[in-house]
Amino acid sequence: MTRASQRYSAVAIVLHWAIAIAILGMIPLGWWMGDALEVRDTQAQAIAAFQLHKSIGLTVLLLSVARLLWRFTHPVPALPEGMKQWERLAAIATHWAFYFIIIAMPFTGWLYVSTGWSAHDDRPLEVPTLYFGLFQVPHLFGLSHLAEQTRATLAGLFENVHSKMAWGAIGLTALHVAAALKHQFVDKDGVLGRMVPGLEKDPQGSSARGAALAAGFAAIALAALAALWTFQNPTTGAIAPPASVVHSHEDSAHDDNASSETPADDHADAPAQTPPTAAPGAPPSWTITQAASSIRFSGTHAGVAFEGRFASWRADIRFDPNNLEQSSAVVTINTASASDGVPLHDQSLPQQEWFDAANHPTATFRTSAIRSRGGNAYEARGTLTVKGRPIALRLPFTLTLSGNRASMDGSLSIDRKDANLGMASDPDAEYVSREIAVRVHVEAQRAP
Ligand code: HEM
Repeated sequence: MTRASQRYSAVAIVLHWAIAIAILGMIPLGWWMGDALEVRDTQAQAIAAFQLHKSIGLTVLLLSVARLLWRFTHPVPALPEGMKQWERLAAIATHWAFYFIIIAMPFTGWLYVSTGWSAHDDRPLEVPTLYFGLFQVPHLFGLSHLAEQTRATLAGLFENVHSKMAWGAIGLTALHVAAALKHQFVDKDGVLGRMVPGLEKDPQGSSARGAALAAGFAAIALAALAALWTFQNPTTGAIAPPASVVHSHEDSAHDDNASSETPADDHADAPAQTPPTAAPGAPPSWTITQAASSIRFSGTHAGVAFEGRFASWRADIRFDPNNLEQSSAVVTINTASASDGVPLHDQSLPQQEWFDAANHPTATFRTSAIRSRGGNAYEARGTLTVKGRPIALRLPFTLTLSGNRASMDGSLSIDRKDANLGMASDPDAEYVSREIAVRVHVEAQRAP
């Protein structure tokens, strides 16, 4: 049996091993994450693992398409002459089956998540796909906008094909490795050395090729270590990022409430505006020091605490402790500015399932009465309107007045169900706590 003379290019070899190692890591990860999601202690890590799984999977898809294009444009070494006909056919069939699986497997995973439906729980599951937390990967073909029954059927199909293909990949890999070992230890035809650099003396070896291979394998090792580290150190809960200016350019006409009475403008966080002078006897207006004020929200996701804030909001406050009767506040919150610094959360919050910022750019809290609870303690009653849903609320707060300056702190908790936030895919609060705590801190100055 003649020794294999030709060889694979450095690019083909590096792509082969990068895809092989990724897939062999992705299968146990896929199996683990499905089960780990059901267990409270591992839920947070599982949720982060889903994003990692999807990111690595999409990278495999990219590399596999590159591999196929390289295959069409760069001839592969011929099979050793001495191989039997059936061995040749088996080798060629395995190779093309692999080209099919390394593309179809990630693609079916992408199609599955694009339905926005959980095949396991048989209900909507709109979770954005973030590529290593960097940017959101679009879901395919508008599948998540189809009728629920169609989404459920397609999700079941794609998830099933996706998980079954894992077994196909394992079977093919076993066949492939067995054949490679036969070439090496039975046929001794050097075929394995064509894909394992350094196994065989490479008469045409050059330093450039050596360098390319070394760089390629170093990149694979680094990527594998980074994936392992990311798996072991999932980003779940976080402290809110500093207030940054977020401007929602949505036309305020969309706003369910603000538009009817107080014309909303996009720049809820704009520097303090001088409110109009109050009518004689009317409570004075207060100018908010935006940078020293905040509206924060907190809860848990998969048992891990998160805390976020709205970076963009404004309030029209008219308050006089001696004239609570006429005192009032209207707070307009830019829903697109909600963020807690966790990429998955920040990408999900503006989505339809959560604040649906595209259709409801602002949420408003409008007081109907403010009463004293003794000392510097007060309570504001009013209506919070989120996504067009009015929720009656009581906001107990304390207020410290010194000269023209006021410092206010209030807190309350909101049931996500009342505000219809994230209820479609998590109606039983398996993942995100139902109760969301809201803390308001306002520093303000009496308007001249
Ligand atoms: C070559 C790359 C990939 C491999 C080898 C792979 C492998 C797997 C495996 C073995 C499972 C477990 C199936 C089971 O529970 O029986 C799984 C689940 C899953 N994969 Fe992949 N996957 C790949 C790429 C992707 C991509 C690109 C996405 C999405 C963008 C994706 C999304 C998912 C999802 C959402 C599940 C969970 C299914 C469920 O439990 O509901 N996968 N994957």
